[in-house]
Amino acid sequence: MFGLRLSSGGGPRYPPLMADDDSRTGSTYLTPSIVDWLATTHAPNDPALQAAYDTPKETGIPAIHVGASEGKVLAMLLRLASARRVVEIGTLAGYSTIHLARALPDDGHVHSVEFDPKHAELARANLARAGLAHKVTVHIGPALEVLPTLVPYGPFCAVFVDADKGNYDHYGAWAAAHVRKGGLLLGDNAHYFGNLLDDSAPAAAMRRFHEQARSFFDTVCIPTPDGLLLGVRK
Ligand SMILES: C[S@@+](CC[C@H](N)C(=O)[O-])C[C@H]1O[C@@H](n2cnc3c(N)ncnc32)[C@H](O)[C@@H]1O
Repeated sequence: MFGLRLSSGGGPRYPPLMADDDSRTGSTYLTPSIVDWLATTHAPNDPALQAAYDTPKETGIPAIHVGASEGKVLAMLLRLASARRVVEIGTLAGYSTIHLARALPDDGHVHSVEFDPKHAELARANLARAGLAHKVTVHIGPALEVLPTLVPYGPFCAVFVDADKGNYDHYGAWAAAHVRKGGLLLGDNAHYFGNLLDDSAPAAAMRRFHEQARSFFDTVCIPTPDGLLLGVRK
């Protein structure tokens, strides 16, 4: 895999930092039991979060929200960045949205974009149950069409990308144009389910997302189970 050479993005290339052994991935250490214990210990769901977490299995929509620990990571990063204005791409039932909105001050706002009206309706109900309806607007439509309408609400303190992987490069480019200096780019599924280096079009889009982000953000990929790209706008 290290034979692959990507062309875009600046900066020198260095060899891998760690020895060629399995310990560099850590994946063998993160068992489901440990994931659950860590989430229970550090990031337990309160009733409002649990309701959003359980919505997929209760309604039959896909259970593809972030994990409890990842949700708390997002919230803590927003707090560290003193974020007030946030865009989320991919709402589902509002689980991550609750984490994001709670991290903002009372006058902060999350603009969350979702193209499935059923998901948006479930999210709005979960956000109302969490007492966050005043802090979140769920915009219904394809993100590439909705994002230009959000420009007047910016510049933004953070953009969280968690929708169709084949458009991540476009979402990253939009974030580069509309995130303030010191603001955050957050990209979930940055490992693309283990397929990041495949030949497919979405894998290529995800690699462009990584590579292009480096030009505008100081970046690192946090090795959560499926990777969280973190960028701080230069
Ligand atoms: C992974 S889920 C989001 C999970 C949510 N962020 C969470 O952690 O609770 C992705 C969502 O993005 C939506 N989506 C997919 N493609 C989209 C697009 N082009 N524009 C807007 N929403 C999209 C899907 O309908 C789905 O609800």
